Amino acid sequence: MVRIADEVIRLENVTKDYTIRTGMFGKGKKNRALDKVNITVLKGEILGIVGESGSGKTTLGFVMLGLTEKDSGKIYFENHEINTLDRSSIREFRLKSQMIFQDPFESLNPMLTVAEAVDTPLLVLKSALDKGQRLQKVIEALENAGLQPAEDFLSKIPSELSGGQRQRVGIARSLVNNPSFIVADEPVSMLDVSIRADILNLLKDQAKGRQVSMIFISHDIAITRYIADRIVVMHLGQIVEQASSRDIVENPKHPYTALLLKSMPELSDKNLVPIDEQVEYNVDIMNGGKDECSFVGKCPFAMDSCTQKRPEMKEIEPGHFVACYLF
Ligand SMILES: Nc1ncnc2c1ncn2[C@@H]1O[C@H](COP(=O)(O)OP(=O)(O)OP(=O)(O)O)[C@@H](O)[C@H]1O
Ligand SMILES: [Mg+2]
Repeated sequence: MVRIADEVIRLENVTKDYTIRTGMFGKGKKNRALDKVNITVLKGEILGIVGESGSGKTTLGFVMLGLTEKDSGKIYFENHEINTLDRSSIREFRLKSQMIFQDPFESLNPMLTVAEAVDTPLLVLKSALDKGQRLQKVIEALENAGLQPAEDFLSKIPSELSGGQRQRVGIARSLVNNPSFIVADEPVSMLDVSIRADILNLLKDQAKGRQVSMIFISHDIAITRYIADRIVVMHLGQIVEQASSRDIVENPKHPYTALLLKSMPELSDKNLVPIDEQVEYNVDIMNGGKDECSFVGKCPFAMDSCTQKRPEMKEIEPGHFVACYLF
């Protein structure tokens, strides 16, 4: 049972639509990027969000950080509904939340030095810290992110750094303000395979050492299992399954989770459905917001009920939730 005090962020029935223009005179087609999403992030946990391309992972991260506005539903930060927060509380929320991006090159301003980039979140504090105090924090953050000695990196610009070093700068920047909540969106997918484990370990150590809650977004279940405590599986904007990382991988229930696992070479030698095949399918049948299971068009077990009403999330074992009529 989740104690209220353990929650950092909670989303209740959050929905987000995008309208896609269909041809020059088309009225536009509704694409439901998030479809009644319910999710709770606990203090100090790493929560993995997995799903194929277009399943709504980035939209979910952006909505959680207030970078994209939801259409309906409620978002609570430390048990206060965000819409009802006053300006100073929203400012506090912004200070306490950070994002780590997929592309460490694009996410850093090419004109700013490492010192300036990592200092940026501290500037929001305005007069709270003087220049010397801020520099001290920047140095600490860089060293914590594995850039040692930090002094060697302060005046470098992004083009003078390797991909891994740039992502370390991104991580230092996200941690410099001691946030309580971080969204890391595919933070290792653009990095060389040889340095992925180092960056994952850094993220895990920093999040766990500081009791920061982290959303770890990835299309790769194997990587997510390595870092996350729990995993949420998304398909076309809907959460279809949620459980401990171990249960998701070793005891998957939803047919879509099972399919995702089969497509991971690290986890199965069957390799039945390559994930890339599904991306095509996904783009073709975007979720238009019907009250049905998002996976019905592809599910080998589909029944009439799956199109009549979307299955509710059900706790089928302690902590293991699945939205499927098979359970
Ligand atoms: N700014 C936007 N305008 C229109 N549609 C959008 C926009 N951003 C996202 N979408 C659509 O919303 C859906 C979810 O997109 P999102 O980027 O959240 O998926 P994702 O799971 O992060 O995918 P990926 O793994 O490719 O990063 C997709 O169908 C996408 O086309
Ligand atoms: Mg994305």
